[in-house]
Order: sequence, then structure tokens, then C-alpha cells
Amino acid sequence: MISTLHSRRSGADGDPAPRLAYGADYNPEQWPRDVWEEDVRLMREAGVTVVSVGIFSWARLQPGPDTWDFGWLDEVMDLLHAGGIGVDLATATASPPPWLTTAHPEILPVTANGETLWPGARQHWRPTSPVFREHALRLVREIATRYRDHPALVAWHVNNELGCHNVYDHSDDAARAFRGWLRARHGSLDALNHAWGTAFWSQRYTDWEQILPPRLAASHPNPTQQLDFKRFSSDALKDHLRAEREILREITPDVPVTTNFMVMGGTRGMNYPDWADEIDFVSNDHYVHPGPQDRDELSFSASLTSGIAGGRPWFLMEHSTSAVNWQPVNVAKRPGDLARDALLHVAHGADAVCFFQWRQSAAGAEKYHSAMVPHAGADSDLFRAVAALGATLKTLAPVAGSEREPAPVGILYDWESWWASEQDSHPTSLLDYRQEALDWYSALLALGVRADLVTSRADLSRHRVLIAPVLHVVPAELAKELTRYAEQGGHLVTTYFSGIVDENDHVWLGGYPGALRELLGIRIEEFGPLLPGESVELDDTATGTLWTDRITLADPDTQVLAHYRTGVHAGRPAVTRRPTGGGSASYVSTRLGVDGLAALLPRLLEPAGVHGELPADVRGKVELTVRRAAGARFLFLVNRTDDTVEVSGPAGDVLVGTGTGTGTAAGGVVLGPREVAVLRQPAG
Ligand code: GLA
Ligand code: GLA
Repeated sequence: MISTLHSRRSGADGDPAPRLAYGADYNPEQWPRDVWEEDVRLMREAGVTVVSVGIFSWARLQPGPDTWDFGWLDEVMDLLHAGGIGVDLATATASPPPWLTTAHPEILPVTANGETLWPGARQHWRPTSPVFREHALRLVREIATRYRDHPALVAWHVNNELGCHNVYDHSDDAARAFRGWLRARHGSLDALNHAWGTAFWSQRYTDWEQILPPRLAASHPNPTQQLDFKRFSSDALKDHLRAEREILREITPDVPVTTNFMVMGGTRGMNYPDWADEIDFVSNDHYVHPGPQDRDELSFSASLTSGIAGGRPWFLMEHSTSAVNWQPVNVAKRPGDLARDALLHVAHGADAVCFFQWRQSAAGAEKYHSAMVPHAGADSDLFRAVAALGATLKTLAPVAGSEREPAPVGILYDWESWWASEQDSHPTSLLDYRQEALDWYSALLALGVRADLVTSRADLSRHRVLIAPVLHVVPAELAKELTRYAEQGGHLVTTYFSGIVDENDHVWLGGYPGALRELLGIRIEEFGPLLPGESVELDDTATGTLWTDRITLADPDTQVLAHYRTGVHAGRPAVTRRPTGGGSASYVSTRLGVDGLAALLPRLLEPAGVHGELPADVRGKVELTVRRAAGARFLFLVNRTDDTVEVSGPAGDVLVGTGTGTGTAAGGVVLGPREVAVLRQPAG
């Protein structure tokens, strides 16, 4: 679907062949009319095929409650169409205009502390405000009706980064909607009282009206109330997405609808696996956070986006050509980073490569954010790199539409465990769910072992090894599924603080790891979190931090892979494995970090017969991903290092080697620093 967006309604010179889309957010309202023509000319020069327009145009499109100004957008749409460029048209509801917030300040979100988020930036609206909803949907209907038949229209872009700034609203609207959501989830007050454990601290509710969002409280707010509020807040935004989508589907049933997710860094408020079915294709925004694991994190996020998309192609809606403006220090990308970052997303299933934004703003909060056309103009290294990437993506047309080939290892990423494991009043406040999962992924990259991030909705049996770090929330059904997985030959690996609670955040009693105790064949009576700076040694030379467990073996078959050598648990098991029929269930009771995990992993992978697929000398230096289509497999080889790396072995037609990288069809490629090669093999 994504691979033909540029040509869905192709004009005279539209190219109907599938290809990877290329483009950006385009904000022409920030520029005088004469710049628009140059924009389209430069877009063509850069190989741009699609742009997202109108994301922040509400105030311009609707200057007052009953006045509309579409003339400028008509012209932009026509110009783009004449240039053969498709438009992913925004519904423009992301940032309400001043006249609306002045007339209706009751649409403004309220924090847990009771502070109003005032206008002046963007996304200052309550997801549950009926007044906002009414105005937003009226705008969506106007836009959809006006452009329903415009030949440039290839997709709808609902709102923008739903929940980026307004996911947690504690207003009275939110309170009302929360009560409605709780009634639907729990059915009765008795059921809610049980689920929330309100026998504790005299919290028993006798009327729905007594229930509030978890506002600033005297001490730790009820944990299940917090967890339900997270679920509710994600659902409230999903409901807004649906409401816009319904209008778009009614007016343009043939135009696909998307909204841009933020699978990156610590963005956790929106349960994207649960949203994915609501849209016609998954889109993601990703920005690099400079640091030691920055490109591992890019790869991780791209893989997780692919998992959310069910392995099907997805749309990279935003990333940056170079620096952003919103980090403490905004570092420019180095030569080669622009192409490698983009192609790493393609390697993980992106069929579209787009940036924020087309032309760097001269004014506003994002004027120092890079773009495809920088402040320096088109006569710049950056624009030349942008145009070179456009040409590379054109060469990669055969990849378009291919899906991800399941990797031998899956890493289970579970939103509910993410939310619940990091709540307050726990054994430690230092636990970082995403970092633990990323460390496993980094360790697998270091070993050159291919791994897919998968969500709890995926078919887990596709992976010979399933790593489920900090799988904290384990409802009875999931425990059964994991047991089946291991008994049918799968190799499950899990860690500290897993299997502890059910869906209501109630502890599974009888000893930890609760729901997974029998499967893992161990029993823990008390947690042993470590203080900051404190560590323990294992007898295999690894070092553990953050957490330890006092493990007792509870099954005669359970093996000990490593013991604690120091600390209060010295001599006791630290890493265990219980064979289960054809598979196994392993437990890692401490935080080992990337190096410790890389040292341990070969022993965890060995019973599954999993190892690196590339020659041993390049494992860790080169990341391998595989996409496959009916007749072909595409191997992406990404040089993770700043050195030239020779990869002997993989054979195939070299579709692309960025920069000076060269390859031979006889087998093997040479990758310059930070280069990417793409090989096509016949499907086996
Ligand atoms: C987000 C937004 C864009 C822009 C970029 C800047 O992704 O969707 O409008 O603000 O961040 O990085
Ligand atoms: C205080 C309170 C108790 C309990 C403990 C927990 O002493 O009185 O109800 O909360 O703290 O440490």
C-alpha cells in the first residue's frame, strides 16, 4: 500500500511502479508564495515523492468560527500535483487556534497538579473534551470534503503525534470520561473495588462519582488506579483517532488513513500495539538521542515499529536530516549518518523515508531544527546528501512491499509491563524497562545475532528463542501461552521482576516469580534490589547491578548457569534454566548490562542452535536484517563502525552500496565507514 502512495491518483507524469516513498512535512504557510515554486522544483531534484501538508494549519484554514480560507492550500495542492508529488494531507487538528481557546478555555488540559496547560505552544487540548472534539471533527469534515477528489491526495494524516504533550490530562472532562471507561472495564463498583484493592487505605468507593484521575495526592496514589488511568489515557486518544478516521472513511473510503506514532526513547503513554489496527498503515517518527547506544536504539525502535506493524511495511513519517532543537545539546549528524539512519529504518521495514521537515523554518521554536533544505539553501552539503539519498531510494524500488523475515530471536516488548514495572512504591525506583530490553538487543547486535522486537499480540512461536525482559504483568492466559511455547520447543528467557502481578497489579502469591514460577522451576521469597553504585559478581565473571534475587531451585530439572560469587546471595543461583520438553525456560535474576548479556547469551542461545549468520570476523561490526518478498530476499548490511569492513560470504545482486562502498555479485561486500549495502537473493 505504501509503495504505491505516490501514484494512487497519479497525474500525467505520475509513475505507477511501486517504489519507496521519500519526502517530508511541508509547511508552506511559513513562506511567501514565490518560495513554493522553488520548493516543488527542489523536491523534484531531491527525488521527493510525497509530503505531509497542513499539520499545523488550523489557524490559517479556519481564521474564525465560521470563516474558512482554503485558497492557499488549493494552490499548494495543485502545485504539488503538477510536480508529480503526492500529498499525505493532515486533518490539521493538532494545534487549536487562539480564537478557539479564547472562546473555550475549558478545552485546555490540566496536569496532575492542577495546572492548566495554556496556549502558546501546541497540542493544548483535552483528548476527552466534547467541545474540542466537536470543533476538530467539523474541521476534518471540511478538509475531507474539499479535497476528496483532489488528485494529489494519497493518504490522510490524522492529527499529529497524538499524545506527544497531552496524553495525561487530569481535568474534569477526563474524570468524567475515566468513570465511563471504568464502568465499561469493570462492570460494577464491587468489581472495581476488588480490582483496585480499595480495602487498602480506606479507599472503598460507594458511588462512581467519587472516582477521580490520579491527581496530586498526599502519598502514593493507588497503583491500579494509576495503571487503569494509563490504559484509559491511551484509549482516550485512540478514541479521538477513531472519530477522525470515521469521517475520513465516510467521505473518502479509498484513501488510506494513518497517524504518526512515536516509537522512540521514553515515549510510553500510547499503547501503539493496541492502536495499530485502527489505521490503514503504521507510521512512525524517530529521532536519534546521541549517546553510546544511539544507533542500537534506532535499530531497536525500527524493529519495534515493524513488530507493531505485524512485520508488514510501515511509513517513516519523520526523522531528521541532522540536528534537532529539543535536546539539551543538539548535535549535527556526521557525514554518512543521514543515509545510514534512513536506510536502517528501511532495513527494518520502512517503505517510506520522510523527514521533519522540508524547509528549515526561519522563525518559531523549531528554527534550529535541521530540514531537507537548510538555512544555507540548496547549495549545501546537506541538500546534496538529501538528493543522493533520494537517488538511493529510487534504486531500492525492488524492496518496496517486502516484509520482515522472522529472526531466530524475538524480544517481547509489553506495554502493560512497561507501565506497571516502573510505577512508584516498588522494590526499586531505578528500574528502566526499556533500557533492559535495549541492552538485550544491543548484546544481540554485538554478537551479530538477528532479533525482532515483537509485541504481546504476535505469534510467539515464530522465534526459536523468546526473550521477555521484565515481563512484570502476566495474566493467567499469558502464563499458559508462554508455558505452551516452551513445552512445544521454544526457548524462553526472562528476567528479574517478571511474572509478579496479574492484569490488576495484584501479586501472584506463593512465591515469586508468581505466574512463571512453575515454568521456570525456581522460587523466590524476597527481592534483593541493590543500592545505586552497588554491584555483585557472578561466578562467570559478569557483574550484576540494580537487582538480585534469593533463588531456591524448585524443580529437580532446573539447572544453574551462573551463581552469585559475592553479595548476600553468594553461592546461590543467579541464572537458571529449566528444560521443558523440547524447549527451556531461563531466568536471569540481575541486571547484567550489554557486556554481561553478550557474555551470557551464547549459553542461552546454544540449546536453540542460534548463532550469528554473518562470518565471525564481522559479527558486531555489521548489522544484518532480512526483508523478503514472493521471489526475493533482501539482505541489508549496515556498517555500525567508523571503519571499512569487508564482509565475505553473502552473495546476491548488490542493489545499493552507499557512498564508495562496492560489492561483487560473487559474494561479499566492502562497506566504508557507516555505509549500507543491500543485496538481493532469490527466495529460497
Ligand atoms: C515531532 C513533531 C514535528 C516536529 C518534530 C521535531 O516529531 O511531529 O512537528 O516538532 O518533532 O523534531
Ligand atoms: C507509616 C504508616 C504505615 C505504613 C508505613 C510503611 O509508618 O503509618 O501505615 O504506611 O509507614 O512504612
